[in-house]
Amino acid sequence: MTWLSSFWRSSIGGKVTMAVTGVLLFGFVIAHLLGNLQLFQGPEAINHYAKWLADRGALLWVARIGLLAIFVLHVATGVRLSRANKAARPVAYQKPDTLQASFASRSMVLSGLSLLVFVVYHLLHFTFGVTNPDYYAKKAMGAEGHDVYAMVTSSFQVPAIALAYAAFQVVLFLHLSHGIQSFAQTLGFHHARYTKMIKTVSFLLALLIAGGNALLALSVLTGIVEVKP
Ligand code: HEM
Repeated sequence: MTWLSSFWRSSIGGKVTMAVTGVLLFGFVIAHLLGNLQLFQGPEAINHYAKWLADRGALLWVARIGLLAIFVLHVATGVRLSRANKAARPVAYQKPDTLQASFASRSMVLSGLSLLVFVVYHLLHFTFGVTNPDYYAKKAMGAEGHDVYAMVTSSFQVPAIALAYAAFQVVLFLHLSHGIQSFAQTLGFHHARYTKMIKTVSFLLALLIAGGNALLALSVLTGIVEVKP
């Protein structure tokens, strides 16, 4: 345990922890988006998928607890590394440091903590039904499972909710576009030869994921996806 905690506290251990937890969270976000895109196929597809997930029983709970632990570790390590960086350089560079760094890279802690706010709001919205109990109530469908389609579409027909989700996707885009680059660097892709390719791939992946999420919310708002009353 002491070996593990001293590894975590070391600079390289922190970076490896960020990379491993980051890639697992990245995998979750892709899988979650692919599942949610079934909204475009109509109520049956997404409700069937939701029932399949719910039927995993104990396995689903293991995955949920694992996901939560990974998320907590990612946030805690990110905050620790950023503090350690600041402590190592109490007086910030006047200019040159930030000239090279993109806006996304300088705002990783801020975008990460904003995503934490989003996830808490998102769970209160769809998992616990606290923020919009009326729409959450539509989820109950009895033995057939959950009417996730009705819950999601009735929520996203409300402009404030759909636009809030879309706005958070800008933050997700910023966080992922730099996070994927950092991951590639931790793996050892430092060479200038790869820089352009890594930047392009990170940009495109981040755009696809954040754009896909925003598309879901905005498609309901604009009537492309039909709202189930
Ligand atoms: C428009 C985009 C999104 C839609 C429509 C959506 C929809 C949903 C729904 C319906 C649930 C399940 C609620 C339940 O039945 O318990 C859920 C859970 C969840 N979502 Fe999303 N989501 C979206 C984007 C995101 C994003 C971008 C993230 C992360 C950054 C995220 C993280 C989560 C997490 C962590 C859970 C809980 C998983 C679980 O406990 O099973 N979601 N989402």
